[in-house]
Order: sequence, then structure tokens, then C-alpha cells
Amino acid sequence: MKLIDEINKRRTFGIISHPDAGKTTLTEKLLLFGGAIQEAGAVKSNKIKKGATSDFMEIERQRGISVATSVLAFEYRDIKINILDTPGHKDFAEDTFRTLTAVDSVIVVIDVAKGVEEQTEKLVEVCRMRNIPMIVFINKMDREGKDAFDLLDEIEQKLHLRVIPLSFPIGMGYDFKGIYNIWEKNVNLFTGDPRKDIEDTIEISDLSNPELDDLIGTDAANELREEVELAQSVYPEFSKEEYRDGQLQPVFFGSALNNFGVRELLDCFIDIAPSPRPKESTTRVVHPEEKDFTGFVFKIHANMDPRHRDRLAFIKIVSGKFERNVPYLHVRQGKNLKFSSPNAFFAEKKEIVDVSYPGDIVGLHDTGNFKIGDTLTQGEELSYKGIPSFSPEHFRYINNADPMKSKQLEKGIDQLMDEGVAQLFRLELNNRKVIGTVGALQYEVIQYRLEHEYGAKCTYENLKVHKACWIEPEDPKSAEFADFKRVKSNYLATDKRGQLVFLADSQFSLQMTQEKYKNIKFHYTSEFK
Ligand code: G4P
Repeated sequence: MKLIDEINKRRTFGIISHPDAGKTTLTEKLLLFGGAIQEAGAVKSNKIKKGATSDFMEIERQRGISVATSVLAFEYRDIKINILDTPGHKDFAEDTFRTLTAVDSVIVVIDVAKGVEEQTEKLVEVCRMRNIPMIVFINKMDREGKDAFDLLDEIEQKLHLRVIPLSFPIGMGYDFKGIYNIWEKNVNLFTGDPRKDIEDTIEISDLSNPELDDLIGTDAANELREEVELAQSVYPEFSKEEYRDGQLQPVFFGSALNNFGVRELLDCFIDIAPSPRPKESTTRVVHPEEKDFTGFVFKIHANMDPRHRDRLAFIKIVSGKFERNVPYLHVRQGKNLKFSSPNAFFAEKKEIVDVSYPGDIVGLHDTGNFKIGDTLTQGEELSYKGIPSFSPEHFRYINNADPMKSKQLEKGIDQLMDEGVAQLFRLELNNRKVIGTVGALQYEVIQYRLEHEYGAKCTYENLKVHKACWIEPEDPKSAEFADFKRVKSNYLATDKRGQLVFLADSQFSLQMTQEKYKNIKFHYTSEFK
């Protein structure tokens, strides 16, 4: 098959949601459609469950699962679908943000009763900023929930999306009768039987057809007619281009648990979701159909087996053909590497592959060469943009609790930072190390993993920091910048790449500093050039 045909048959996407909205259940039903798994319950939730086991064990369990579910690939209607797993727990949001740099589109799952929740807002905002095409799936229609129009309003207002319903529910909760598929113009009646055949959908190309009255009763039929008419007058017309530009978001209704409305979602997704998209690099935009291979690391998984220092770097292929045993340029290190056993992922299995194409994810065994964001090419000196570090929200000094193991500690911290577990800063004042994280859970993860994987012990000390901002002076030689560095010397640190960071101890002091130093920019992500 030609490269362009391989590209056109791929869809790489992520499912995002607030925990409990039904992401795992939906993933599983999608895999069932692709025949990739045989039964329900096969996909394990990557949620951190509090309770029975200790948090450390829970974190390890979660890490184990998250290797297995990092990429779930299957084929459906001759399309190769790659679902990239995104952790829902807020402490791991940065993992999800990074994964979102490797998807070509997303599906947003919303609980019909809870509506738009906190994590949904944060994740959708990241997708919106990147103009990632989104389809919304409103789940749990078998339960009592919000009115469809109210929910659509809420999505527009809270998520700042421009929605267009492509299916519409007939009733809800106890009275849930099914959905009218505006996209395909047919009715799917809800029987509550998850094994129901997809052939059970009934073609109703014209809503005025009296057959509809026979199917769902005259009252419900009239209500549906009114609602769909209203929806069509209120919402914009569907345009594939606008959806793909991230300017319009189709909405589907259903119940993942009952496997209802999922087929409709998947069929529409196959029709409209983009195949691998071009990506911007430091020098130019790279198109997937280019002959030469390029790709970037968006995730690293380390030490699943502490006896072998194994690390798996996950590469998203952006262009060309990736081949086993062919040397590729590791751009940051300026050296060629080849890989004898690259892994590809199918449902829950991984296998060694000879060739992979744009949109695919390959797992490369690594002995410490890779950092998140690294680029591989066939020789061209380009780096992919778009994996910034986000300003952490928690800060602690990290201390060595076992002086005999300081080497191990150094190495452990170094590798965990490469993996993107947290960010390391070094205070200019006293050269002490500060760990910044997005969630408090990461401190437990780091302490536990340092001990179990590197044999090192650490303790933490609190540090009052409100926010870290990356500093960019308009003129590095100005008197203003010199003054800033002198006055704020106690609050300055450098990150891993040597960039200057200002650790503000309160919102107030940050604001005052920003007002005082007007020619210095304060950035909330590390990537601003
Ligand atoms: P998540 O990955 O987004 O966190 O959500 P997950 O799929 O684990 O679903 C969260 C809970 O919601 C699960 O119940 C799941 O069975 C339920 N659920 C998912 N889809 C639907 C639906 O369409 N209708 C109804 N009524 N429930 C749904 P749980 O009791 O928390 O977990 P479990 O013990 O059933 O696994």
C-alpha cells in the first residue's frame, strides 16, 4: 500500500473526561466494535482508587495498567484506530496534556446528570487552544439527567464550544426511548439490551413519516419533531471543515454501559475525524505524506521491572515510514540510533513491528537517551514544538535522607524528571533542589519510586511558592532586568534546561512584580519562543 493510503486509513485520538463520566466504559465498547476484545470488563480502568490498598500500591497498579492501555489500537471498517490513553486524575493532568500533543482529534465524554465538570473544562481548554477537532459524547442517557438543550447550552458556555447535535435523545432516564440520528437520519430504539444488534436501527429519512408515531407513540414523536426542528434552527449546519479546524463540535447522545449510541458515534467519527495532521516544528510545518520519517517522544514509561532498567519511550510518527533497524537521528543528542525491537500496540497486546506509519505510536526500548519532547528524524535538524512544561502548583525542597546513596538519588531524580513525573528547579540563592508538581500525589510517587527503583531515600521540606513563571526579558542587558535579578535574587531558580524561573510566593507579589517590571514577560508554560 502507498504511504498516502496508510495515512488515510489512520485515526489517532484520545478520549477525555472528568473521572467517572464513562471513559473506560466507552473505550471498551469501541474495542468491542473493532473485535479487538471479546468481552466487557477487559479494559482496566486507569483510575486511582482510594481505599483497600495503600496509595503506593495503588500508584504502582495504576502504572502497570497504564502501560497496557497506553495505546489501544483496532481496525474498524478498514480504518486503523489508535486510542491514546489519558489519565483522568487531576494530579496526572500533565500526562494528559502531553498525550494531547500526539492526538489528531478527541472525543469528550460528559455525564448527562453531572454536566460539565472541572477536569472536562481544563482538558477541553487545552484542546481548544490547539484547535484539536472534538466530538462530544453525552453519556448515561439511561439515567435521569439534564435536559438536552440545557446541557448543550452549558457546554457552549462553560467549554466555549460551538456545538451541533448530530443525534438527539428521545426521552431520558426511565423514559429514555432511544436516539434519533440526525447524521444518518434513522432511529435507534433503546431496549436496555447491550447485545442488541446494530441492524436494529430503523431508517426514518423524514421525521414527518407516520411510522415514527407507530414506533415511539404520537406524543414522543411530536416532541422529537419539535426538538429536532428547534435544534436545526438554533444550531449551525454541520461542516466537516469547521469541525476539523476546531471551530465546530458535533454532539452525540448515548449510554456507553448499554452500548447504546456508540456505533453511531464510531461511524460518524470514522467519516469525519481527520487522519494524521501536519505538525509544526522549529523550522517548518511537516506533512505526514513526506517521504522521510520524523516523530517525537510524548511519553516515557520506566522501570516497570526494577530488575531490568527498562524504559519504553512512546513515539508518535508524524511523517514518512518508521522502520526497524534503520538508524535515525536523535536531534537533541546529535547522534544516530537504531531500534531492533520497536513495539506496536494492538488492543492490549504489544508486538514487535517492522514498519509503522504516521498516526501510529511505537514504543522504543531506551537506556536513558530520551526525554519527553525529543525528536527523531531521518537526518533533518528539526524539533517538534508543543510539549511545554506547565507551571507547577506545588513546591517542596527535596533532601537526601541517605548520604551513602547520593549518586542513586541524583540518577533517580534525573530519570524521573525525564519521564515528566515532575519538574526540578535549582534555587539561585543556595543551589538547593526544588521539586514542582501539578498534584500532591506526585510527591508520594517520587519518594516511593526513588526508594524502590533506585534504592535512594528522600525527604521533603515545604516551600512557600504560589506559582513558577518562566522569565523572558525584552532586553537581557537592560538595567531593568539587572534590577529584577538583584531584587528578586531570593526567588529565582533555573529549570532543567537552564531557563530562568521566578518563584512567586503569592498572587499579590507576582502581580506587583509584573507591574513593576513592565519589560519582562512572565510565562506560565516553559515554551514561549
Ligand atoms: P471513567 O473511566 O470515565 O472514570 O468512567 P468509567 O467508565 O469507569 O465509568 C464510571 C462509572 O459509570 C462505572 O460505574 C460505569 O459502569 C458507569 N457507567 C458508564 N457508562 C454508563 C452508562 O451509560 N449508564 C450508566 N448508568 N452507568 C454508566 P461504577 O459503579 O463506578 O464502576 P463499576 O463498578 O461498574 O465498574
